[in-house]
Amino acid sequence: MSLEKEIKRRRTFAIISHPDAGKTTLTEKLLLFGGAIHVAGAVKSNKIKKTATSDFMEIERQRGISVSTAVMGFEYKDVKINILDTPGHEDFAEDTYRTLTAVDSVIIVIDQAKGVETQTRKLMNVCRMRNTPVIVFINKMDRNGKDPFELLDDIESELKIKVRPLSWPISSGSTFKGVYNLYEQKLCLFFSEDKQSLSDDIIRIDDVNSPELDQYIKPFTNRFREELELVKGVYHDFEIDKYLSGELAPVFFGSALNNFGVQELLDCFIQIAPHPRPTVTDAREISPFEEKLTGFVFKIFANMDPNHRDRLAFLKICSGTFERNKFYHHVRLDKDFRFSSPNAFMADKKSIVDFAYPGDIIGLHDTGSFRIGDTLTEGEILKFKGIPNFSPELFRYIENADPMKSKQLAKGVDQLMDEGVAQLFIQKSNGRKIIGTVGALQFEVIQHRLEHEYNATCRYESISLHKACWIESDNKAQIEDFRKRKFNNLAVDKHGREVFLADSPYSLQMAQEKFPDIKFYFTSEF
Ligand code: G4P
Repeated sequence: MSLEKEIKRRRTFAIISHPDAGKTTLTEKLLLFGGAIHVAGAVKSNKIKKTATSDFMEIERQRGISVSTAVMGFEYKDVKINILDTPGHEDFAEDTYRTLTAVDSVIIVIDQAKGVETQTRKLMNVCRMRNTPVIVFINKMDRNGKDPFELLDDIESELKIKVRPLSWPISSGSTFKGVYNLYEQKLCLFFSEDKQSLSDDIIRIDDVNSPELDQYIKPFTNRFREELELVKGVYHDFEIDKYLSGELAPVFFGSALNNFGVQELLDCFIQIAPHPRPTVTDAREISPFEEKLTGFVFKIFANMDPNHRDRLAFLKICSGTFERNKFYHHVRLDKDFRFSSPNAFMADKKSIVDFAYPGDIIGLHDTGSFRIGDTLTEGEILKFKGIPNFSPELFRYIENADPMKSKQLAKGVDQLMDEGVAQLFIQKSNGRKIIGTVGALQFEVIQHRLEHEYNATCRYESISLHKACWIESDNKAQIEDFRKRKFNNLAVDKHGREVFLADSPYSLQMAQEKFPDIKFYFTSEF
């Protein structure tokens, strides 16, 4: 098959949601439809239960599961689908943000009873930064919930995106009858008894005005017809270009647990979701159809086996064909590498792959040469954009608790930061190291992993900070003045960039007002 055909048949996406909306269940059902697994329950939920914040076994278990489900590839109707898993726990949100840089589209799952929740809102902000095409799946229609029109309004205003329903639910809760597929003009009725395997009992009716309809959806027939009229009146026709540019989200209703509406979602997804798209680098835009390989690392798993210093770097291929045993250029290190056993991921197993194409994710075994954001090419010097660090919200000083192990500690901290577990800042005034995270759990993860993987012990000391933001200015006098006045609140990040550590929202606001020529950035990429 030609490179062009391989690219056009690939769909690389992530399913995102607020915890408990049904991401794991939907993933599992998609894998079932794709024939990649045969029984439900094969995909383990990778979430850390809320009660488990101090349970290190749980954290380790989570890492184990994350590796095996990080990428789930399968073939469906001659389309190669790659689902990129994202951590369920909000403390790992930054990992999710980075994964979103490696997908071409996303499916957002929303619990119909809860509507848009905090995490959904945050993740949508990241999608908006990159104009990622979004499909919304409103889940748990078998439960009583909000009115569908109300839900759609909620999505439009909360997620700041236009919506267009492509399926419509007939009632909900205990009287849920099924969904009408507006995209293919078909009515699909489902039965909830068969929860564990694919149901063959899907009844299709092409014409909603057919009297036959009554027999299936009574007493909701009239209401359903009225709602359909309203849908046609309120929402514009679905325009695929608007979806592809991230302005319009098609919406499906269903119940992942009961297989309601999942196949409609998948069938429409493979038709409308984008194949790999051009990627922006600091040098130029890369088309996936270019012959030469380019790709970037967006995730690293390290030390899964404590006896080996093994790391797996996840490379998203952006152009060209990846070949096993061929030399590729590691741009940051200015060194060539070849990989004898790159991994491809199919559902829950991985295998060695000889060739991989744009849209595919491959796992490269690594002994510490990669960090997040690293670029591989066939010699060209470029760096992919869009793999930012986000301004952390929680901070602690990190101190060495065992003077005999300072080397181990430094190495451990360094590698964990490469992996993207947290961010390290060094305070200019006193050289003290500050760890910044987006979730509280990370501090425990770092302490635990330093001890078990690097034989180093650390101690934390509290520090009261509101936010860390990267600063930059063309106005030399103003930034010098700022540096003098705010010396105690300045730090550098791991790459030597200057960072302002704001004590409070007020001090940040004051700084922004007093120093209008200084730009304060909330992501590391600007
Ligand atoms: P997440 O990955 O987004 O966190 O959610 P997950 O799929 O784990 O689903 C969260 C809970 O919601 C699970 O129940 C799951 O069974 C349930 N669920 C998912 N889809 C539907 C649906 O369409 N209808 C209904 N009624 N429930 C649904 P749980 O009790 O927390 O877990 P489990 O013991 O069932 O695994």
